This record gives sequence, C-alpha cells and structure tokens, in this order.
Amino acid sequence: MREVAIIGVGMIKWGELWEKSLRDLAVEAALNCLDDATVDRVDAITVGAMSSGLFNAQEHLASVVSDYLGKRFTPAIRVESACASGGLAVKTAYMEVASGLSEYALAIGVEKMTDVDGGEATFALATAADQDYEAFHGITFPGLYAMMANAHMHKYGTTLEQLSQVAVKNHYNGSMNPHAQFPMKVTLEQVMTSTMVADPIRLLHCSPITDGAAAVLLTTEEEAKKLNKPYAVITGIGHATDTIALCQRKDILKLAVVEESAQRALKMAGKTIRDIDFAEVHDCFTIAEIMVMEALGMVEPGQGGPATMNGLTALDGDFPINPSGGLKSKGHPVGATGVAQIVEAVSQLRGKAGQRQIKNARTALTQNMGGSGASSIVHILEARQ
Ligand code: COA
Repeated sequence: MREVAIIGVGMIKWGELWEKSLRDLAVEAALNCLDDATVDRVDAITVGAMSSGLFNAQEHLASVVSDYLGKRFTPAIRVESACASGGLAVKTAYMEVASGLSEYALAIGVEKMTDVDGGEATFALATAADQDYEAFHGITFPGLYAMMANAHMHKYGTTLEQLSQVAVKNHYNGSMNPHAQFPMKVTLEQVMTSTMVADPIRLLHCSPITDGAAAVLLTTEEEAKKLNKPYAVITGIGHATDTIALCQRKDILKLAVVEESAQRALKMAGKTIRDIDFAEVHDCFTIAEIMVMEALGMVEPGQGGPATMNGLTALDGDFPINPSGGLKSKGHPVGATGVAQIVEAVSQLRGKAGQRQIKNARTALTQNMGGSGASSIVHILEARQ
C-alpha cells in the first residue's frame, strides 16, 4: 500500500442553517478544502451521510454532490455507518489512494438535520439502534446513553459533576472555534441544572441537532511533498463493529468496539496510546467521552470521570481531548462529524488551530462512533514538515 497524506481541509460554520440546502453544505466545505489544498484534481469522491433520505428525502447523494461540485463523471460513493459515516468516508478515501486506484480522493461528510422537527430527527437517529430490541420499544439515543451513565455511576461512583465537567471543558474549547454551533462557555452549575432529557442526562450533556459539513483531500505522500507546506499522514486506521443492541453485550460499561478499533489503529501506526499528543473523540453525550477515554486505555476503567475533573483532558492538560469543542459544542451533524474530527486533527498538526492550538502537537488520534458503540473508526495522524 502507498503512504497517504492529507493536504487540504475544509469546514463551514455549523448550526441551524435554514438558508442553505444539503448540497450547499457539502459543496461549500469541499470548495474550502480544495482552496486550502491549492489543488483542483479529484479522482474519487466519498460522501459520509447517515440519513439524507429521512432528513431531506434525498438519496443518491454522491451523484448530487459530485454534480454540484462541478465534478461530473467523477466516481463518487456514499458510505453509511450511522454517526461513524464520516470516519468511514475518510477510510474509504484512504483505500482509494493507498491502493493506487486514485491519486486524489476527496472525503466529504454532511448532514442537514434541522429540516425536520425534533421528533422526526430523534426517529431518524433511532433507526441506527436495534429496531427489534431497542427502537421498537421506544428507546432513543439519549435513553441508551442514560442507561450507560446510570450503570457507570452505580459501578464506579462516577458523579453528575464529573459528567458535567466534560461539557464545561468542551464548551470552553469550542468558544475558540469559529465553526462551532454552540461556542458559549458554560459553568458546572449551568450544566448540572440544565433541562432533564433522560435521567441523569441533561440538555448540556447532549450533542445537539446540527446542519453541517466538512471535507478533506487525500493524496500520496509523494504528491504531498511537492506542495512544500505542512501536511499530515495517516499512519494507522482501525475499524470495528460490535452488537448493535446494548442488551447483547456482556458489559455495557466497556466500549469494546472502541478498544478494538484503537488497538488496530495503534498497531498499524506502530504506536501506543502514550505516544499520542491529543485526541478528538466521539462525545455524543458526556458519558461517551468518559467511556471512550477508558476504552482507549488512557485511564483505568472507572477513572474517566476523576481524570476529567483533574484536568488531564483540558487543552493544557497532559492528554487534551476534543480541542475543537467536540460534538458537544461544535455540533453533531452525524455524517459530518468523523470528517470534522480529521479537519481539527490536521489543523492542530499543522499548527493552524488558532487560540486553541495545542503546543508541540505531532501525533493525533481521532475516534468516531456509530450508535451506542456498534461501530467505531480510529485514525492515527502524524505531522510532516
Ligand atoms: N447543547 C446546548 N444547547 C442546546 C442543545 C445542546 N445539545 N440542544 C439545544 N440547545 C439549546 C437551543 O439552542 C435552544 O436554546 P434557546 O431556547 O436559547 O433558543 C434550547 O436549547 C432548546 O432547543 P431545542 O432545539 O428546543 O431542544 P430540544 O429539546 O428539541 O432538543 C435534545 C434537545 C438534547 C433533545 C437534542 O438536541 C438531542 O436529541 N440531542 C441528541 C442528538 C443525538 O442523539 N445524536 C446522536 C448521538 S448517538
């Protein structure tokens, strides 16, 4: 396989974007990415989107995007793995370049979730849960993560304060991200007393409903070197799946899919978790960030909450997590999230993350999850030049 580099990244401001259509979002992020790369060649397009059918009544999305991007006749595919669709789009683009099939592959993640009302959005999201054993009985994603949070609190003594500190940290980071949907800082008190959604999960423990897109351009490292500017290489990819239903897991407090995907990615990169300078992880609910930290092996099981309180994962901590603001503050347009994690990682590795820049960031890990841990994709990225 050939070495693969990321030479361009593109974001747009996320939020409730009434004035823009689904295709506008994807095309704007893609054009920003090509501008950033200063390259206009695209041999393949991969689009990550979870449910453009239910959110926008638009399937066949890859053709819509390639056409409106002005790339008619370019081979384009849409990939889906629930909230991990964006990570899968990057993996698919990687395979295009690594295999030699394409020289330049563009990965785009997009979702426009606010064209439907809250109930319809919750229904669309819940189609990524197990229909027979979960969704049919009325459980939603806030409900599934609330069960995990309650069990974590019961077994390990994790506190509401610890769950809330994840939101305080991520909103603080997001306050420095011009693309974030909710860039306001929040206090522990505000999080702990925000509206109850699914006990113990409150409004400010949840990622929001978001319209957004992100894009990255991949090519060979050989081509990247010719551009004479900093770039990142993908040195590890780990992808795994697990039972879709929580009730079929031996231990709902262990995100085995994250552990598996992370171990595969680290092995491929020849690294351990101690070699990683920072991570962007899937904090769809604040309990998820705590459980992901444990599954990555950053801390022992049950220690994610105390470590967050002690500042381990803060921007100036020993292992910063979600410098972008994460899904919590930046937003979570489900198909776009995995691509946006890579955008943040590359921006940090190039030293271009502005006020939220992490010092000496050379090696990054991104972790993008589908559902309540039924799929996970981890990428390891390293700075070059
Ligand atoms: N964080 C911070 N503020 C939020 C927010 C969030 N996650 N979600 C909504 N808000 C704000 C809104 O801006 C609005 O503020 P305003 O009153 O000042 O205008 C207020 O809270 C109410 O917003 P609304 O859109 O009516 O909220 P809602 O009650 O319909 O939805 C949730 C809130 C948490 C239920 C919804 O965002 C949700 O379902 N999130 C989870 C999404 C999900 O499951 N994703 C998949 C993960 S696997």
